Amino acid sequence: MRKTKNSFLLRFMISLQFSAPGALAGQEKEPVKYIGPGSCAATSCHGSVKPIAGSRILQNEYSTWILQDKHSRAYQALTGEVGERMARILKLDAKAEESSKCLACHGLYTAPEQRGRAFAISEGVSCENCHGPASAWLGPHTTRSWSHEKSLALGMTDTRNVIHRTEKCLECHLGTKNKFVDHEMIAAGHPDLYFELDSFSAVMPRHWKVPRESEPGKPAEDAAWVGVREWSVGQAVQLGAEIARLSWRARNERADKKDIWPEYSELSCFACHHALGPAKDSWRQEHGYAGRRPGDPAWNASRYAVFRLLAKQMDTANAQELDRQMLHVSEEMSKLNPDRSAVAAAASLAVPLAQRIAERLAALPYDQALVLRMLERIPEDAENIALADERGAEQAAMAMDSLYIAYSRAAKPANAAEVRTAINGLFQQLENPSAYNADQFASALRRIRPLLQ
Ligand code: HEC
Ligand code: HEC
Ligand code: HEC
Ligand code: HEC
Repeated sequence: MRKTKNSFLLRFMISLQFSAPGALAGQEKEPVKYIGPGSCAATSCHGSVKPIAGSRILQNEYSTWILQDKHSRAYQALTGEVGERMARILKLDAKAEESSKCLACHGLYTAPEQRGRAFAISEGVSCENCHGPASAWLGPHTTRSWSHEKSLALGMTDTRNVIHRTEKCLECHLGTKNKFVDHEMIAAGHPDLYFELDSFSAVMPRHWKVPRESEPGKPAEDAAWVGVREWSVGQAVQLGAEIARLSWRARNERADKKDIWPEYSELSCFACHHALGPAKDSWRQEHGYAGRRPGDPAWNASRYAVFRLLAKQMDTANAQELDRQMLHVSEEMSKLNPDRSAVAAAASLAVPLAQRIAERLAALPYDQALVLRMLERIPEDAENIALADERGAEQAAMAMDSLYIAYSRAAKPANAAEVRTAINGLFQQLENPSAYNADQFASALRRIRPLLQ
């Protein structure tokens, strides 16, 4: 009883503090500010221990984040052994946990004037990193008649929109001009960044309802295919963000204007980092080096290897044009000294094409037949994918996994267990990336095609 009363009071006080009439009309003079995760933690707001029955949202988002989500421990990654060693190797002028180079992605790192309240940077990647600064909407968004659109107008990030959501994740999981993980940082110990929206959301784990409850006047989400839409839109957005990054790197537009060229992390990691064996056993020599001088490292085409199949099937016209531009990017980037302006030109032509395909994929109705077709296309192109390097193979394994989970749930094929084992076999081939063998991967992937039903 007492708890309820206090929570109500707290909510009321928050509302009073923040819902100045000007703010609602969008005329507030004060810029929106960050107020820290503690502001969301009340049990009647987002800090319930269990999901609240009958509520539109789960209300235990804070508990999920603090207990299960690695984002709440992102700051601790900096104070750990690897983080401290990285700071030494990179000769940072401060400890990792004090350096803007690291905090930009590992915390709610804001300028002092953007802070509406005191909160500790050690709280890691928190609510407002993803949902946007909350000072203007915190109070009003707790009232019953409040709409999502009103929050958006007051600075909330539109994470409901899968395209915007992926872009938000990629700010840290791929990088921007202001915050980045390059080969220098990777060589100092930082994990290489890769991302896939559906599986990363599951690992996070999700603290939201899937499917979301339908809004008045809008059709309900089809629960069976939410993950497939996330996967396919995520792929398109990610490709767009990656080539946009390539284009600003080529133009040396990084905030500190110190872009290394060519930047090794844009290239195929295992072109340089693979194990050597007898010449007769080398699958690389066996296949030759299509489109490049023998021995030059290839561009990392992994984000495109699987996506191009999806794009071709869903949006033929844009996909053909995208293929043309991506071929230019890939040919130029696979030279020892790629020409910066040629790469920038081809990459910037490809970006809007990827964006158009993303919009199309977001609006598309997904069904069982379509998902089966995508599952079939990937093994049919096994050789090309496998030769696009270990990271391309990894994308294919994750795609087969995500798609088959959704497909088998809906279609209930009799041999689901057999297919699952075959997909797990793909992941086993990736356990030691330096020993990756494209021929073995391709044949394992090809074997899945006749099993699909
Ligand atoms: C562009 C954003 C970005 C920047 C800048 C960045 N990181 Fe990270 N960092 C990440 C992401 C994302 C992960 C998680 C990667 C994954 O698991 O996929 C991560 C993971 C790590 C990990 C591994 C944590 C674990 O749990 O295994 C360490 C250590 C780390 N970062 C240290 C640093 C240090 C030190 C710096 C500064 C020199 C830094 N990071 C800068 C985004 C960034
Ligand atoms: C790493 C990014 C990230 C962090 C950190 C994060 N969220 Fe979320 N949150 C999301 C995404 C993505 C969604 C799902 C998209 C959506 O429905 O808006 C979501 C959904 C929600 C929803 C459901 C919204 C709805 O309309 O159904 C609530 C409530 C929420 N988050 C609250 C929080 C709170 C409180 C915190 C901090 C304790 C937090 N989130 C931290 C990314 C994040
Ligand atoms: C402000 C930067 C930032 C944003 C935005 C962000 N992340 Fe992260 N994410 C990180 C960092 C840093 C880590 C590493 C934390 C650690 O391991 O200590 C991480 C880790 C993760 C992990 C754990 C990976 C692992 O190896 O276990 C998942 C999953 C993840 N993020 C998913 C997402 C998703 C999904 C989104 C978008 C909805 C998102 N992240 C948005 C910075 C961010
Ligand atoms: C053009 C060649 C090249 C490419 C491409 C390349 N690297 Fe490297 N990498 C190197 C060299 C050279 C070193 C330094 C090795 C040394 O001094 O022993 C290095 C060092 C490293 C190290 C530290 C060495 C160790 O033993 O721990 C890691 C980790 C690493 N690279 C990962 C990657 C990843 C991940 C990618 C792809 C995103 C990548 N590299 C792409 C050439 C490359």
